[in-house]
Amino acid sequence: MSKLLITGIGGGVGLHITKSLTEQGYMDIVGVDVNPETQARLKSESPIPLYASLAEAMAAEDIGGIYICTPDATHRDVAVEALTYGLPVLCEKPMGNKPDEAREMLEAAQASQGWLQIAFEYRFSPAFWRVHEIVESREVGAPLNVFNEYTPGPWGPNAPWRLDPAKNPGVFNEKLCHIVDLFRFWMEDEITQVQAFRGLNSVPWYPPEIADNVLGVYRFRRGGLGILVHNHVTAADAQGMEGQVNVLSWTPGADMFPFKQAGHSQRCVVICERGTVICDIWGKTVVVNERVGTDEMRVKRVEDFREWCMLELSHDMVGEVLDFIHRFENGLPPRIDPEDSYHSSLATLASEESLRSGAPVRLE
Ligand SMILES: NC(=O)c1ccc[n+]([C@@H]2O[C@H](COP(=O)([O-])OP(=O)(O)OC[C@H]3O[C@@H](n4cnc5c(N)ncnc54)[C@H](O)[C@@H]3O)[C@@H](O)[C@H]2O)c1
Repeated sequence: MSKLLITGIGGGVGLHITKSLTEQGYMDIVGVDVNPETQARLKSESPIPLYASLAEAMAAEDIGGIYICTPDATHRDVAVEALTYGLPVLCEKPMGNKPDEAREMLEAAQASQGWLQIAFEYRFSPAFWRVHEIVESREVGAPLNVFNEYTPGPWGPNAPWRLDPAKNPGVFNEKLCHIVDLFRFWMEDEITQVQAFRGLNSVPWYPPEIADNVLGVYRFRRGGLGILVHNHVTAADAQGMEGQVNVLSWTPGADMFPFKQAGHSQRCVVICERGTVICDIWGKTVVVNERVGTDEMRVKRVEDFREWCMLELSHDMVGEVLDFIHRFENGLPPRIDPEDSYHSSLATLASEESLRSGAPVRLE
């Protein structure tokens, strides 16, 4: 059985995915990490074969697919190298830190015997996928406009590269690329113009180049609007709120209200011709509202996702890697075309450009 190669295996995502896969009985994993301390630690703790480079791992092991979870600034170089081996490659978002990096990744995929998928797993996570199904069914008509409010709280002061402007262009590219991708997915339309705004920074340890309060406005080809409201300030760490066992909020069936009360919000609305589809991740619901007659809007249905684990519901990275393994083991194509992801990346990077210049950016 050919194996899954995880490069960047010693980081937060690499360790989480490895632990989750092995807990589910998937053991055919090979690791790569450039950090010598991480290598030494992992070698002493884990039976997983570990290498210092892709080339060494590829020479020594039978690899079926490569999962890249290295820092954002390395994605272009690591993906371009991985694609030279002619294998399926799943690369974590974002698709590069600059438009030319995204283009090089796309061109490397087009020239490869293998394929490239960017890890936009929000699309396929159950709550967001459900929004897509309802919109696509035209139950309340075609999509017109889309809105998202997302307040996850700050990155810690020791985030090694997320707070380094040389390694991260900003919160749009690092975090909001998922939302821009969802907007294009749900609207079934292309973004033609982007304008982004920032407020005054609030988190003291953020460098001035990394905005912590932003607004993104996306004009679609058919005239629709996408509005993305985001900050790193509203939400507090909900762990330890008196009388609440908040850690349970990450488990199936748990009460999400402590996190909501602490300011966490991940709420999307797709405004359609005859109603709205509202997805509230921390409330664990998808609601369909429908206009009745000429002057009334009614709740048509509330879909309850209470039994889902929070991470699976909106952020199913493990499910995406399991799907990737299924694809390379069975000779299947990528789940998302890299050209599709390229357009999400250009719109996301245009948001960063607009933040810097204060001017709108046209994409066509
Ligand atoms: N899809 C999602 O929802 C999601 C969520 C979180 C993080 N991410 C992405 O996952 C990636 C990893 O994030 P993280 O928080 O685990 O980062 P991290 O800094 O914790 O870990 C990165 C690891 O990669 C290793 N590394 C660095 N350069 C390397 C290279 N050239 N080759 C091999 N290994 C290398 C480091 O030593 C480290 O162990 C980022 O791109 C991030 O944007 C995606």
